[in-house]
Amino acid sequence: MGDYRASFERSLTDPDQFWREAAGAVTWRRAPEQVLDASNAPFYRWFPDATLNTSENALDRHVQAGHGDRLALVHDSPVTGTQTSLTYAELLDQVARFAGALRALGVEKGDRVIVYLPMVAEAVIAMLACARLGAVHSVVFGGFAPAELAARIDDARPTVVVTASCGVEVARVIEYKPLVDRAIDLASHKPNHCVVLQRPQVRASLQPGRDVDWATVLAEAEPAGPVAVKATDPLYILYTSGTTAKPKGVVRDNGGHAVALTWSMANIYDIGPGDVWWTASDVGWVVGHSYIVYAPLLVGATSVMYEGKPVGTPDAGAFWRVIADHGVTALFTAPTALRAIKKEDPQGSFLEKYDVSSLRTLFLAGERLDPDTWEWATDRLDVPVIDHWWQTETGWPIVANPVGIELLPVKPGSPTVPLPGWDVQVLGTDGKPVEAGADGAIVVKLPMPPGSLPTLWNDDERFVSSYMSAFEGYYLTGDGGRIDEDGYVYVMGRTDDVINVAGHRLSTGGMEEVLAGHPDVAECAVIGVADAMKGQVPRGFVVLKSGVDRDEETLRAELVQLVRDQIGAVASLKDVAVVVGLPKTRSGKILRKTMRGIADGLDEPVPGTIENAAVLDDLRPVLRRS
Ligand code: COA
Ligand code: AMP
Repeated sequence: MGDYRASFERSLTDPDQFWREAAGAVTWRRAPEQVLDASNAPFYRWFPDATLNTSENALDRHVQAGHGDRLALVHDSPVTGTQTSLTYAELLDQVARFAGALRALGVEKGDRVIVYLPMVAEAVIAMLACARLGAVHSVVFGGFAPAELAARIDDARPTVVVTASCGVEVARVIEYKPLVDRAIDLASHKPNHCVVLQRPQVRASLQPGRDVDWATVLAEAEPAGPVAVKATDPLYILYTSGTTAKPKGVVRDNGGHAVALTWSMANIYDIGPGDVWWTASDVGWVVGHSYIVYAPLLVGATSVMYEGKPVGTPDAGAFWRVIADHGVTALFTAPTALRAIKKEDPQGSFLEKYDVSSLRTLFLAGERLDPDTWEWATDRLDVPVIDHWWQTETGWPIVANPVGIELLPVKPGSPTVPLPGWDVQVLGTDGKPVEAGADGAIVVKLPMPPGSLPTLWNDDERFVSSYMSAFEGYYLTGDGGRIDEDGYVYVMGRTDDVINVAGHRLSTGGMEEVLAGHPDVAECAVIGVADAMKGQVPRGFVVLKSGVDRDEETLRAELVQLVRDQIGAVASLKDVAVVVGLPKTRSGKILRKTMRGIADGLDEPVPGTIENAAVLDDLRPVLRRS
């Protein structure tokens, strides 16, 4: 056990020494001499003169140290009724061979590979195979529709797309290949090849010359060794929602990422070699990248990968069954998953059916952890329930209870304290720090620690305008909140048009763009409203063009379907209302924040124009309807 306060202070007063020590846990090809290059701020670079290979750190070195027989990956899939596992030696073999297969298809260091796969072990293999070649993967979450995939193909310009014949959503088989074919049709950039994993549930048809079968290319492949890359070279691009429809391509480097994630496993999560670690998320999100794939393997732990849901596969005891079956030491999931379980099994009676005594800690992130859910889990599991806060951009937690250093007292509603490396502050609109307990914009004083985004893919300008220009010298997180007298941080929600639905980050701007594209719609607004299970859900409001006379029910269904077709099922937009107008500022800006407030039952002040008065008479009852 250490001393959090001392560790935190040291990380800020002597970051060079702090991260140099942390870098000692990574196997380098060329060890870093310089720790931080701050010469081109705000484009900071960590370990600029070092080289390494991330897959070598995640796999080869454990096998070389004699741990080849240790379990690396356990795939537990109630939706297909299968459980498989791979030791470190087996996973290394698969990764080296798939890397060879990608190389045979023309993928070299620096090339991009898009991975559009469900929660199968091959997703981990594909990611690590890219890392092995120094290629840059970009994983796209399976719930996104072809148009979203096409936008990512055009931005990342991949040499190869890796996909599967299908995903399985509870009992529904979703064919992936037609979605990929459609996305490639829509995109201007055409990948040279598409590797298709044929799953037993569905066989995808392959386009001769372009498409190849995963099993065939793997069987023919020459294993590839790990290619040394610069610590500052990109490991992956992960697209995330911004305030506009165009997603942001968050770039992750190799060296800072390996150092930060390795440090985080010991110091935040208290997980090391041989521990069984389970992150119940999806590889398509940052939580999946960092804590299903890279971090557990970097430290030689066993990572459980779960293809199922918290409820319905088959019941609300699914999580407890997985813990019992695999002896899980720590579980990381989103609060919404617990709320889904709690809704079906409020007493937690399924817990009595399983032996969950291996569980030491439950970690929750991805959205605000409401005190009710914290209390429910704490009472039933009898282990520390740890909220922690981070983002795609940061790659690892900013604020947490650092269990591996010392378990601090929990304050429900707060993810606890800023972690070493993160100088978290709350600023008012004047750019000055607010008093303890007062609300403001949560920012991080630069530089951010290793592992955080160095830039956006091919878009340095947007990196600066999105994150670095609101308050000079600070990274703008986009979240609002406060820090109390004890230094505990409270994250209250986004200050922009990003919403969080069931732990999934979505852009209301993107949904508005789709609704506005409907020929009958004159203007529209999409807002996130509170939802007891998913945290937030989007609601759409449309004003029709004059003269349009449509059956409202049919039109609403069309609009919901349009968003599903163009963004994907994950958008979860189920409710669109036709209204006479939208409230606006005197300069004509739609008052989305006011609408959110009214929907959440608050007494919102509204600029008293005659137009707004009429609009609100119509809108208020619609907004208040839950
Ligand atoms: N491929 C295709 N479709 C997908 C998908 C995928 N990988 N993931 C989700 N979808 C679909 C769902 O089937 C659903 O479709 P529907 O509208 O036809 O029912 C839709 O997208 C919305 O999915 P979701 O928001 O996940 O809702 P849900 O009702 O299926 O499940 C929870 C609700 C709470 C059980 C689920 O969201 C969950 O387990 N969340 C955990 C949160 C999480 O992993 N967050 C990641 C960050 S930690
Ligand atoms: P993502 O980039 O998809 O991981 O989403 C990051 C966003 O999710 C953050 O900016 C927050 O708005 C929200 N978030 C994540 N974790 C928490 C948490 N523990 N408490 C409150 N909000 C959170």
